[in-house]
Amino acid sequence: MAFPADFMWGTSTAGYQIEGGGDNTDWSRFETKPDTIATEPCGDACDSWNRYEEDLEIIESLGLNSFRLSLEWAKIEPQQGVFSKEAVSHYRDVLQACHARGIQTVVTLHHFTLPLWVADLGGFEHPEISNWMGNYAKHVAAKLGEEIDVACTINEPNIVALMGYLLGVFPPEVKDRSRYDKVNEAMRTCHFAMREELRNGPGTYPIGMCLSMQEYICAEGGEGTMEVIRTSMEDQYLAAVGDDDFIGVQCYTKIELGADGIMPVTGEVTEMGYAFWPQCVEYTVRRAATMTGIPVIVTENGIGTDDDEQRIRYLNGALQGLAKVMDEGCDVRGYFQWSLLDNFEWVLGYRPKFGIVEVDRTSFKRTRKPSAAWYADAAKTFPAAFK
Ligand code: BGC
Repeated sequence: MAFPADFMWGTSTAGYQIEGGGDNTDWSRFETKPDTIATEPCGDACDSWNRYEEDLEIIESLGLNSFRLSLEWAKIEPQQGVFSKEAVSHYRDVLQACHARGIQTVVTLHHFTLPLWVADLGGFEHPEISNWMGNYAKHVAAKLGEEIDVACTINEPNIVALMGYLLGVFPPEVKDRSRYDKVNEAMRTCHFAMREELRNGPGTYPIGMCLSMQEYICAEGGEGTMEVIRTSMEDQYLAAVGDDDFIGVQCYTKIELGADGIMPVTGEVTEMGYAFWPQCVEYTVRRAATMTGIPVIVTENGIGTDDDEQRIRYLNGALQGLAKVMDEGCDVRGYFQWSLLDNFEWVLGYRPKFGIVEVDRTSFKRTRKPSAAWYADAAKTFPAAFK
C-alpha cells in the first residue's frame, strides 16, 4: 500500500452525476416514475462518458495532480453475474487517460446508485448484499486494479442510509428507524467485503470509505440530541474504520443544536439551504483524524451557488482551516473540491451549481468559471497563502 508521494489536489465527481446513460439504476427509475419527488431526470448528465478527455484536459491545464471519479456498478455488472467488457474497457481508457496526463486516479466503487437487479432483490437489505458488492469489487480489482491510485469503497454510506431508509427521500424511499439501523450495519459489512477483495487483487493502493460529516455546534440543552445524531451519522463508522488506509472526509456545512433539536439556519445561507460555513473542514478533519488515527483525505468539499465569488470565498475559508489542522499535525493527504462540473444534484436536479466549470445543458460545452483559475492557483500557493 503506497500513498501518492505529493499532497493530492483534485476535484471530485461521481459517475451517475456526470456520465449519462445511467438508466439501469434505482435512481433513474426513481426520477422517472410518475409521482416522483425528484426535480427532473438525470438523462445525459454532462455527457462525460463521451467527453471525458475534455474534462481531463481541464484538470491537467489547472495543474491538479488528482481526479476523483466513480465507476457505475450498473454499467459494469448490468445483470447479476454478467460483466460488461465494454464498460470495463471504457473505464480502463478513462483511468489510462488520467495517467497519460499525469493525473492520479481516486476511484469510488459505489456512489449512491444501485443496478436495478440489486434494487429489485432488496438492495442494502438483502442478506447477500455484501457478497454481491464484494464480487463486484473483485472484478474491478482484477480488471482495473493496476490503474487505481486510491480506492474509495462506498461514498457516504451514512447518507445513503439516512436519505433512503429513514427520511425516505432517496430510493428506496423507506422511513423506518429499525431498517435504517440495519442498513447502516450492512454498509460496514459491504465496505469490509469490498476492502478485502481490493486488497487481494492486483495493484497496491490505499483503500478507505468516504463519510459525510458536519460541524456540530451545540447550544445549551442540545447535547443529548447531538450525541444521538452524531453517533448514528458518524461515530458508528469512525469507530469501525481504524484498519482502513485512510478516511475520506466530506463536509459542506454545520448543524446547530439546541434544547428543541436542530436549530433553523441563520446568517448567510447557500443555495442548498445550508449555512455558509467553510470552517467545517477544519472541524471535521480534526475529528476524523483524532477518532480514527488514520490519514485523512478530504474527498469532497465545496458549495452549491450561482455566485462564483461566493464559491471562491468559501474555498478560501476551507483551505485556511485545512492549513490550520495540518499545522497542528493532522495527517491529511489530499483535498478534492466538489465538483469539477455543474452536474446532476440528485433530487434537486441541475439547479444547484457546484462546479468550477459550467456545462451548457444543450451543447454540453464546458466553460471555466473564475473559481477554476483561483483553485488552480490556491493548490500551488498552499499552505503559505492560507496562513
Ligand atoms: C455527495 C455528492 C453531492 C454533494 C453535494 C455529497 O453528499 O457525495 O454526490 O453532489 O454532496 O450535495
